[in-house]
Amino acid sequence: MADTNNLAELGGDHPSVHLSTAEPAPAVSSADAALMDPDAEDEELTSEEEEEEEAEEEHHDNDNDRDSAYGESLQASDMASITSEITKHRYENGRRYHAYRDGAYWAPNDEVHNEQQDMAHHLWLLTFDDKLYLSPIATPQNVLDIGTGTGIWAIDMADIFPAATIKGVDLSPIQPSWIPPNCIFEIDDVTLPWTFHEESYDLVHIREMFGSIGDWDELFLQAYQTLKPGGYLECAEHSVTPVSDDGTVGPDHVFTRYGVTMNELARRRGKEFDVWVTLEERMKKAGFVDVVAIRKKWPMNGWSSDQKEKELGRWNQLRVSQGIEGFAMRMLTTVGGWTPAQVQIFAAQIRAALRDRSVHGYLDVIVVYGRKPESYEKSY
Ligand SMILES: C[S@@+](CC[C@H](N)C(=O)[O-])C[C@H]1O[C@@H](n2cnc3c(N)ncnc32)[C@H](O)[C@@H]1O
Repeated sequence: MADTNNLAELGGDHPSVHLSTAEPAPAVSSADAALMDPDAEDEELTSEEEEEEEAEEEHHDNDNDRDSAYGESLQASDMASITSEITKHRYENGRRYHAYRDGAYWAPNDEVHNEQQDMAHHLWLLTFDDKLYLSPIATPQNVLDIGTGTGIWAIDMADIFPAATIKGVDLSPIQPSWIPPNCIFEIDDVTLPWTFHEESYDLVHIREMFGSIGDWDELFLQAYQTLKPGGYLECAEHSVTPVSDDGTVGPDHVFTRYGVTMNELARRRGKEFDVWVTLEERMKKAGFVDVVAIRKKWPMNGWSSDQKEKELGRWNQLRVSQGIEGFAMRMLTTVGGWTPAQVQIFAAQIRAALRDRSVHGYLDVIVVYGRKPESYEKSY
């Protein structure tokens, strides 16, 4: 791996940076990390770095991520530059983004967006009657959560299965420090070759990685290799294009324009959003058997007369209202060439549409899971 940003190059079979340990370590801010770097104090700041420092200060009051705990592996001096790298953020158009593997991910990692992600977690639980996963595994021992985000799913899993080890991996250091002792977070890029031990996990969980992955087949193959025989891969995704069964979301509706635009830009970027329709086939192609796909709907507000759908719709409305600027800003400004003001107007139009109950829009939602056969011919 030629890329010097690849943390996997720097360690043995466990390349990533552990962010949390059973004993929460003192918080390490980027400023602290810079102090740990022997080269840092002699360096003159470039104007870009100065800008970033100013933005960091500006956002300091709202920045709870500084509370993240960093494990002992980061306290060694030879790791200081990595500490600094992963704890940095990039600010664009008033939003905060990850800096490690800069530009790899399309959404912000600030408090506003992370709250949206936690609302999405609630929505997933509501959808599947509080089940954290649907694969038929009674007591998983080793679980891997790919693109763990705020770590909310991994933490819930660790609470429910105290004898299991749950590992969450993400580009962003946005996971909390006070976590169950059997939960581990690592910062890594899951599109790079995985270095987890082969055949060591009972469950690999992937949720809402749409728009983040260039090669889903490769991702699934890596999951296959990492799973024990008989282990499960489970993938939960949703569409970004609201549709309706009664024609109330027409071709010119702002929901349709949003979905078409986001999908087009994501395709141009080489990391599609519309992956939910392909998951079942891809899982079979990767070698998984007994693949099951379960489809649901998330209404765009409380328009439905069905009580459960109404509740899902209210939560989805709240989630999208909170998240819409973050969903759209980076994609539309960087890939689409829009101005931030244009994105804000578009977001306001979507928020207004979300309040209209005469439009019966919903998002398609899917969970697909499949088993790695107990016996198979090893091709890797
Ligand atoms: C939409 S969020 C989903 C978070 C979490 N799975 C959940 O459902 O709550 C997508 C997450 O994937 C992470 N991500 C995107 N690309 C990644 C990559 N190449 N490697 C690791 N994490 C990545 C982002 O940082 C973000 O936290």
